[in-house]
Amino acid sequence: MQIGLLCLLFQTIFATVMAEDLNIDKSQGKLEKYRQLRPQIEALITGESDPLANASNLCAALHEAFDFLWTGIYRVVDGELVLGPFQGPVGCTRIKKGKGVCGTAWEENRAIVVEDVDSFPGHIACSSMSKSEIVLAIRNASGDVTGVLDIDSDTLKAFDQSDAHELEKIIALIEPFEGL
Ligand code: SME
Repeated sequence: MQIGLLCLLFQTIFATVMAEDLNIDKSQGKLEKYRQLRPQIEALITGESDPLANASNLCAALHEAFDFLWTGIYRVVDGELVLGPFQGPVGCTRIKKGKGVCGTAWEENRAIVVEDVDSFPGHIACSSMSKSEIVLAIRNASGDVTGVLDIDSDTLKAFDQSDAHELEKIIALIEPFEGL
């Protein structure tokens, strides 16, 4: 009887931990990986209203699913972009409006796909390993940019408009939460 109870307890703990693990078939193409990932991010943040916790898990899930070089969020704080939750090598701490890919995406309130970072005038190189990049605006309910999602890859042309489209849908999961 006691062994049975112990087994039940172990199964419950194990199931709880496993529910937090991502389940992505990495042999699939990127669109299928986005399709698998989005509901899992949604499940991770459902019931949690803390914007920092949700943004952190969103970055971690994207980073793990795609093995990007760097995945993170910069927040608009007092007129500058300031580093927020991220996964990967250390990043630049502050970026001014209109500077680099991130500051440009903020200023122009749009997604920017950079196939080759060396061809983007003013690109800010936080890591010499970064070869291509995508940055998307994160907006509040009024449509103002409150931050950006920045993803870097160590391969050229890693991103295209299909990534922008899928990532917009993923960002929409955290956009209702303000105050990053
Ligand atoms: N490359 C970015 C800077 C941020 S790092 O890549 C993490 C830019 O040009 O804005």
